[in-house]
Amino acid sequence: MKDMQTIISLAKRRGFIFPASEIYDGLGGVYDFGPLGVALVNNLKKAWWQSMTRNHDNVVGLDSAILMNKKVLKASGHLSAGFADELLECKQCQKRFKKDEVEGDVCPACGGALSEPRQFNLMMKTFIGPVEDEAAIAYLRPETCQGIYLNFLNVLNTMRMKIPFGIAQIGKAFRNEINPKNFIFRKREFEQMEMQWFCRPQAANDFFEYWKKERLTWYQIMGLKKENLRVQEIPEEERAHYAQRQIDIEYHFPFGWGEIEGIHNRGDWDLKNHSQHSGRELSYTEENGEKYYPHIIETSVGVERSFLAFFSDAFEEVAGGRTKTTTAVKEKEILLRLPKALSPIKILVLPLVKNKPALQEKATAVYQSLKSQFSCRYDDVGSIGRRYRRGDEIGVNYALTIDFESLDNDDLTVRDRDTMKQERIKIKALPAFLSKQLAA
Ligand code: GAP
Repeated sequence: MKDMQTIISLAKRRGFIFPASEIYDGLGGVYDFGPLGVALVNNLKKAWWQSMTRNHDNVVGLDSAILMNKKVLKASGHLSAGFADELLECKQCQKRFKKDEVEGDVCPACGGALSEPRQFNLMMKTFIGPVEDEAAIAYLRPETCQGIYLNFLNVLNTMRMKIPFGIAQIGKAFRNEINPKNFIFRKREFEQMEMQWFCRPQAANDFFEYWKKERLTWYQIMGLKKENLRVQEIPEEERAHYAQRQIDIEYHFPFGWGEIEGIHNRGDWDLKNHSQHSGRELSYTEENGEKYYPHIIETSVGVERSFLAFFSDAFEEVAGGRTKTTTAVKEKEILLRLPKALSPIKILVLPLVKNKPALQEKATAVYQSLKSQFSCRYDDVGSIGRRYRRGDEIGVNYALTIDFESLDNDDLTVRDRDTMKQERIKIKALPAFLSKQLAA
């Protein structure tokens, strides 16, 4: 059984995730990615970006602004009740809750009486310009896709796209969540990887099925265990205000099943509303003269939620350690079986012992020769076993050890994180060997 607290403490201890503003006691629902966290996040984003824009000929990229004219969010429905949660407040302890998370009619924290529910809009407000009046109010975007709809015509015309086609984007989104929880699962500042697929109305159902399959397959190719993934069809009364159909891809986190990605059939909601509100015609005309508002199939993944899914999936705690020695009672070992595409550091270069300059020199030369091609680190602090374990804990795929034989034979041992098997490889064959292994 994986324990959330151990996962959170590993993430902090090994420089993946820190609470934001920590020296000022933090800020609810906001976290920072540390050196290893940002490397993993970048790998995750790169894998998603490549799968969308390279593996699909007709998906192009975009990076639109976080700040938008507030008329956008009126047209999209985010300024109305559609993007609000029902908030309950305890009259006794003043704690606040989302109504749909409270079972019964008393405060889950202290048993006190609860207020009547009130609508609470989730958008974060700010002001643009020097005067903080009504006219200057702006909002931080609550989802990245609105910028895609605003650029529908720009992309269509400049890239000579033809329906069906998609636009992919990765970027920050903000929601003033009433109750951020489960570490980085529900945050107030987070990132989304969204793709909007524009198609003929008649083709929308088929493309919905197509993208559902593509996205589920992606998680499995990326190494998530099949038994930890499931798809939930969302009934009409629970769907987002823009969705005609919605499925959630859920992951089995240590705290239970939770949504990592939503796939939505948004119909003509977006382009039609933006046409009406902006006065700019966003319909599409086929070569045969047929004119319509393209329907949109959206795939929307949270960076943090998918990070947490990959991190939890890879996490393993081995009581007594993986290498059984005769007498010594060993403490538990932690292992991150991250897929090769995601691990922040792929290779560790290790001289067998520290106080032998010839070993250090050779190991340093190996490290210098690899570091521009691979994400690797040199480490000579502590016993070799301890260094292997430190590498295993952060998901390093291969540990290269320079020992005394290496000095005569110009070779080294390559230790595989998952099997702990070691094989001797000639140093001059290393780049080709590692490229092959890491591409697999
Ligand atoms: N454009 C569609 C959209 O935003 P959503 O279901 O509200 O749909 C999509 O969000 C994904 O964004 C979710 O599946 C989740 O991974 C992520 N997400 C949403 N709210 C989040 C939050 N408060 N913290 C972290 N991730 C969040």
